[in-house]
Parts: sequence; C-alpha cells; structure tokens
Amino acid sequence: MPAKKGSVRIRQLEFDDLSPVYYLGTTLFTAEKWPVLYRTWDEYEILERFMSDSEFSLVAEQGDELVGFAIGTIIEKHSWSYGYLLWLGVREDVQNEGVGKKLYEKMEMLFRKSGARIMMVDTAYDHKKAIGFFKKRGFENIEKHVYLTKSLGTLAKVKKVKKTSRKKVMPSKKTRKRI
Ligand SMILES: CC(C)(COP(=O)(O)OP(=O)(O)OC[C@H]1O[C@@H](n2cnc3c(N)ncnc32)[C@H](O)[C@@H]1OP(=O)(O)O)[C@@H](O)C(=O)NCCC(=O)NCCS
Repeated sequence: MPAKKGSVRIRQLEFDDLSPVYYLGTTLFTAEKWPVLYRTWDEYEILERFMSDSEFSLVAEQGDELVGFAIGTIIEKHSWSYGYLLWLGVREDVQNEGVGKKLYEKMEMLFRKSGARIMMVDTAYDHKKAIGFFKKRGFENIEKHVYLTKSLGTLAKVKKVKKTSRKKVMPSKKTRKRI
C-alpha cells in the first residue's frame, strides 16, 4: 500500500513499534540481497536495543504509517565514545524521498549530544546505495571486512542453543561482530 504523502516525523521507538519495525526490516534485509544483514537482523536485536538504548532507537512516521527506523548505540572504549548506527531502514516504496536522511540526521544529533566523538556505520561491501548515502553524509575511511561461513552439519541442529539464554549474556550480534 503506498504511504500517505505528507511530512515525515521522526520520534523515539515505542513498545508497539517493535513488531512493525521487525517486519519492515525483514522486507529490507533479505537473504537474497544482503545475507549478512539478514542473518543478524532478528526480533531480539531490536528488543535488546530498545531496552538498553531506547534513546537511540528511532522511527519515521508518515501520516499514521511507520516508514523507517534507525537503531544505534554508544560504544565506550579507552575514554573515547563512538556512536554506532547499527541499523537504518526505509520502506522500499518511500525510499529516495529524504526519510533516511531525516533519520540519519536525528541520530547524528543524538550521538553528538551524548558526547560521541566518532560515528561508525557498516553495511555490505557491495551495497552501493548505502555506501553512497553514507559518503554523502561525510563518512570516509571505508574498511572492508570479510565474513566466512562453515557448515557445522547436523550436530548444530541437535544442540540448538536457546536464543533467549544466549542473548542475556552476549552483546548485540552486530556489536559483537566488531569486537
Ligand atoms: C540506505 C537507505 C536507508 C537510504 O534511505 P532513503 O530514504 O532512500 O534515502 P534518502 O532519500 O533520505 O537519501 C537519499 C540520499 O542519499 C543519496 N544517495 C542515494 N543513493 C546514492 C548513491 N548510489 N550514491 C550517492 N548518493 C546516493 C541521495 O543523493 C540523497 O542525498 P541528498 O538528499 O543529500 O541529495 C535505504 O535505501 C534503505 O533502507 N535501504 C535498505 C536497508 C539498508 O541497506 N540500510 C543500510 C544498512 S543498515
């Protein structure tokens, strides 16, 4: 359904947004397009961020429709504070209309306010649009990172780790992959 045209409002993510944001993400981070993003996007990721970083969890609304989200966190290391934009997504039918830019600008402003000195983002190495988008926002020093996978066969299926218990003790998957 096409979004109702009108001004876009950026606000903090609320509890009722968790499910729509998750489903919007599943339409953007698909296994075919972006396998790594697909694997790391799940409902616990958003819930964790909402519970620990609600200040940096934003949604974009157009009319009464949720059309985008931005999820970030602050990483403190050696007395430096980094603002890490973990996820940014805009509904496909309203892309290229400035929604991503508004979400991004609000997030950068929040990071600045919280004292972050450097902002980080990541995306797939061949995601030309996202890379172009971030370059235009002043990002540079692009570093390539290689992911490798290995099938662990049937044993992994038998010894399936319960998601909830693992996530209680581990940092966000996206944060984890940088450590
Ligand atoms: C990346 C994404 C968030 C951008 O959102 P959007 O709402 O379409 O972007 P906007 O319309 O706000 O901004 C487009 C801006 O990016 C620029 N841009 C877009 N594609 C570009 C490209 N290939 N090269 C250079 N600049 C580009 C435009 O020029 C415009 O900048 P300007 O307004 O300053 O001229 C959106 O495409 C998306 O959700 N993609 C799928 C999810 C994703 O990959 N997220 C990022 C990784 S987590």
